[in-house]
Amino acid sequence: MHCNCESAYEEHDLVECITSALDARDPYTGNHSRRVADMACDLCHVLGLPEDITREIHISGHLHDIGKIGIPDKVLLKPGRLNDEEWELMKQHPKIGADILAGSPKFARIAAIILHHHERFDGKGYPFGAKGEEIPLGSRIIAVCDSIDAMASSRAYRGALPLETVRNEIEKNSGLMYDPKVAKAMLENWQIVENTYR
Ligand SMILES: [Fe+2]
Ligand SMILES: [Fe+2]
Repeated sequence: MHCNCESAYEEHDLVECITSALDARDPYTGNHSRRVADMACDLCHVLGLPEDITREIHISGHLHDIGKIGIPDKVLLKPGRLNDEEWELMKQHPKIGADILAGSPKFARIAAIILHHHERFDGKGYPFGAKGEEIPLGSRIIAVCDSIDAMASSRAYRGALPLETVRNEIEKNSGLMYDPKVAKAMLENWQIVENTYR
């Protein structure tokens, strides 16, 4: 398949195929999950994480938005801003995704990473308002990569933002939205981002 990460393993292609189901339904997310997985994998390497943890976070990157498969079309595919009620529905996607993975105890750690991928380091995220290191490391890594891809790719209502702007946003929100250690590692290894969007 199309993942750029050096490491590939047995279940990897299956995971990419499953997430293509979501890509097929929502053209705007397109290759979003793949880019998030690739950047998360690279970030794990620069953080010096062990291979089994890296693999878990890489797979979680591919699957992080899989819960969107349970979001109705009128919300998922709405071109403009979501109203309050629609936003409440959209905010359920981490829980829906974690529930999908809860089918097997083998995926418990990946399910936890998915459940918390929209938490913020300062505790102002969702679904639980978990803060700091209460949030799984994989979720904190995916949060940075997810935001980068959301800004660096074009949406129905705006074009892609320049990478310089994206970089400033990550810097500005370090310690607020993002784990400062994770944000710092990405800022110091910004070629990971440049290589993703070249
Ligand atoms: Fe991958
Ligand atoms: Fe998400």
